[in-house]
Amino acid sequence: MKEDYLILGIESSCDETAAAVVKGGRTVLSNVISSQIDIHTLYGGVVPEIASRKHTERINQVIRQALSEAGVKLTDIDAIAVTYGPGLVGALLVGVAEAKAISFATGIDLIGVHHIEGHISANYIEHPDLEPPFLSLVVSGGHTHLVNVADYGVYEILGRTRDDAAGEAFDKVARAIGLGYPGGPKIDKVAKEGNPDAIPFPRAKVEGSIYDFSFSGLKSAVLNYLNSCEMKSETVSVPDVAASFQKAVVDVLVEHSMEACRERGCKKFAIAGGVAANSALRAAMVDACRQNQIDFYYPSPVYCTDNAAMIAVAGYYEYRKGVRSDLTLNAVPNLPLGER
Ligand code: KG4
Ligand code: ZN
Repeated sequence: MKEDYLILGIESSCDETAAAVVKGGRTVLSNVISSQIDIHTLYGGVVPEIASRKHTERINQVIRQALSEAGVKLTDIDAIAVTYGPGLVGALLVGVAEAKAISFATGIDLIGVHHIEGHISANYIEHPDLEPPFLSLVVSGGHTHLVNVADYGVYEILGRTRDDAAGEAFDKVARAIGLGYPGGPKIDKVAKEGNPDAIPFPRAKVEGSIYDFSFSGLKSAVLNYLNSCEMKSETVSVPDVAASFQKAVVDVLVEHSMEACRERGCKKFAIAGGVAANSALRAAMVDACRQNQIDFYYPSPVYCTDNAAMIAVAGYYEYRKGVRSDLTLNAVPNLPLGER
């Protein structure tokens, strides 16, 4: 059986317009990302309508560049993998319409890919030894999921956030302490100058579920702390708030993940999503996994945040299983993981 399929990945679920060519599921030939961060920064967050318009303006060029950097022609491509959910509906539609148009015009196979499946699959790129089963923590701007990856494309969700996603909490707290958008990388940087034990922010537990997360209480605790400092005319140490908040998030993510690994007897663990680029989270997970004798996997930062290489990788494994989408493929903003 042919194994070295060439997959063109397309990603447009939020504020990154991205296309990539991946060979054999694990070799990235090109990975082009056109970020809209500069524009959305002006508004303090992603403006969905602007995101869709920018995707429309850029997507053809991004795909051309991905093919050219990979040194391949469209006719060499075996399948087009496109994110069809979850995400911003207008943004997703640009990628889905583009992928369907190319598939219709050329006859190239089409595969709709789940965005979170893409994030998890980013781990396959730099870890040729990583194969399911393993446990994965997906932490991004829109998602916080603890997932059992039973096989390629086979997922069991063990826990999820009950309110804000981890990245969303980073972004909101960053805004509150005047760091602006996107908050995660800015908090990561400024926290290096602060004391993570300066302020005892809460570590939330969700009653009835040991693997679920909740970050809205922590976010409120930070806001209350800032308000009370203002009332008392006390100066706020931005690095201390950033470091203490970050530690509160990291502690909970590590504790739940290690508990799940112990309970499941799992010896392989991978993190994924934008927040997986966080230096404190990576360092804490390295330590915890070493203590628990668990092999720890994490993607390079460029494969943690949104990109199309991860979508092409996920698409490759779906394609090998015989999964194909037809031209009725549509954007599904709330697509559950593991369903198609
Ligand atoms: O995966 P991603 O690019 O988009 C979604 O699928 O949501 O994740 C974006 C999120 C943002 O909330 C951003 O603040 C966060 O990932 N992020 C980080 C870091 N880099 C990105 N959070 C903490 N530390 C970082 N270094
Ligand atoms: Zn994402």
